[in-house]
Amino acid sequence: MANILCIGAGFVGGPTMAVIAKHCPEHRVVAVDINAAKIAAWQSDHLPIYEPGLKEIVLSARGKNLFFSTEIERHIAEADIIFVSVNTPTKTFGQGTGKAADLQYWEKTARQIVESSSSSKIVVEKSTLPVRTAEAMERILNSNEKGLFFDVVSNPEFLAEGTAVQDMQNPSRVLIGGRQTPSGQKAVQAIVDIYAHWVPRERIITTNLWSSELSKLAANAFLAQRVSSINAIANLCERTGADVTEVAHAVGTDTRIGPRFLRASVGFGGSCFKKDILNLVYLCEFYGLNEVAAYWEQVVRMNEYQQASFVSKMVTAMFNTVAGKRVAIFGAAFKAHTSDTRESPALAVCRKLLEERAHVVITDPYALESARADLHDVAEQVIFEPDPYAAARDAHAIAVATEWPQFAELDYAAIYETMVHPAFIFDGRNILDHKALYDIGFNVYAVGKPPLTHFESSNPAS
Ligand code: UDX
Ligand code: UDX
Repeated sequence: MANILCIGAGFVGGPTMAVIAKHCPEHRVVAVDINAAKIAAWQSDHLPIYEPGLKEIVLSARGKNLFFSTEIERHIAEADIIFVSVNTPTKTFGQGTGKAADLQYWEKTARQIVESSSSSKIVVEKSTLPVRTAEAMERILNSNEKGLFFDVVSNPEFLAEGTAVQDMQNPSRVLIGGRQTPSGQKAVQAIVDIYAHWVPRERIITTNLWSSELSKLAANAFLAQRVSSINAIANLCERTGADVTEVAHAVGTDTRIGPRFLRASVGFGGSCFKKDILNLVYLCEFYGLNEVAAYWEQVVRMNEYQQASFVSKMVTAMFNTVAGKRVAIFGAAFKAHTSDTRESPALAVCRKLLEERAHVVITDPYALESARADLHDVAEQVIFEPDPYAAARDAHAIAVATEWPQFAELDYAAIYETMVHPAFIFDGRNILDHKALYDIGFNVYAVGKPPLTHFESSNPAS
């Protein structure tokens, strides 16, 4: 039996510990957090995050071998293995502002581990961290005067929101990096043994510490780069008459490339992609690799361009002004099936439309509360409307910013009747039936496709 602790019971720490507890009934698993309200929520029937399948797992293990607590010192003292998944946001001050990871919570946690420990332990980096953070952590942890030794292991998470439990239960791979010393290898093996309870051994990859830390940043950079690549091609499609869905299909059927993450869009969002790429950029600059840094930075720049060009396309199409016009944004979440709006392109579109002095109404099935919090500085200029039909009423345009499947199921003929004419639809996720919308009377602009408009100067559908 081992005592497993996780410091940071957030989006990553909570689901990770729940799944470990489910599959390792002989271990005692505790998740602690400085946020008492969050811990109270983990102990209640209203968990602090929604992920499909999570509640069932938490309810079946909680009180048996899964516990949530704010007593950080006590649980550190009792633990054999400590996962750390506190947040590592982008720095907003000082050296590396806007790019480097802010490691203050990590360092504070490391010092707290040393202070509260009276036995040697394994410390697992679960948060995404810059390469070689483990080295700094080892120094802080092992410069204690108690004669204790801490092995630092890297075990990055690859959970996507909306599928976190599934990703954890059936991972494409688990990555565990450690020192090549006997003690380091023993620590790696201890973490391998946890995952081997439910993950086939061939999917558990062990590497050196630095490869593991870097692989996490590289994986997110590659995923984001695919989205920026297809969005770059989408811009060219709009100028040349090519259709980005057809191009993505043709490109993605090459088995060397593969079909996933090639959906052209108004841009990628979420808490990880931008943060991790900028972190990678900062690392490259730190090592004097300025060309490498510029290469990866362009993935983020392309994403910003994509959001800006979407709004600029709207303004141009709507006779060069949206000032005073009601515009309904369909979707606030950064992707479908989540209430998370962090770095959501929908909110970027909202802000840009406000700058153009449009009257913005935003609708979303789950993310309006979070959108209101993120848009707090401009919230009095925005209408938050849960009903998409009400949002579109009297609007000049609809902009689809999140790929919620329910947006494709709406009665657009009825919506068209309630809108100001000529009515526009800008489909930033390519989820609607564009020909059907055109036939209803809409002027339709998708991403990476020729527009379908009823104006004489443009090419109508044929
Ligand atoms: C975060 C990072 O965004 C991600 O890069 C990293 O891989 C893991 O941590 P996430 O779990 O989504 O991911 O963050 P969040 O939901 O904010 O959870 C972090 C938790 O740590 C919060 O609940 C916060 O209260 C807690 N925390 C933070 C502590 O318990 N102690 C601290 O000192 C700081
Ligand atoms: C991502 C990684 O997938 C995950 O492995 C990592 O641990 C955390 O970051 P997540 O941010 O939850 O997960 O979302 P993801 O599904 O990767 O989508 C990111 C963004 O890219 C979303 O805004 C999504 O709408 C967008 N996207 C994705 C596209 O625009 N086109 C695509 O083809 C795929």
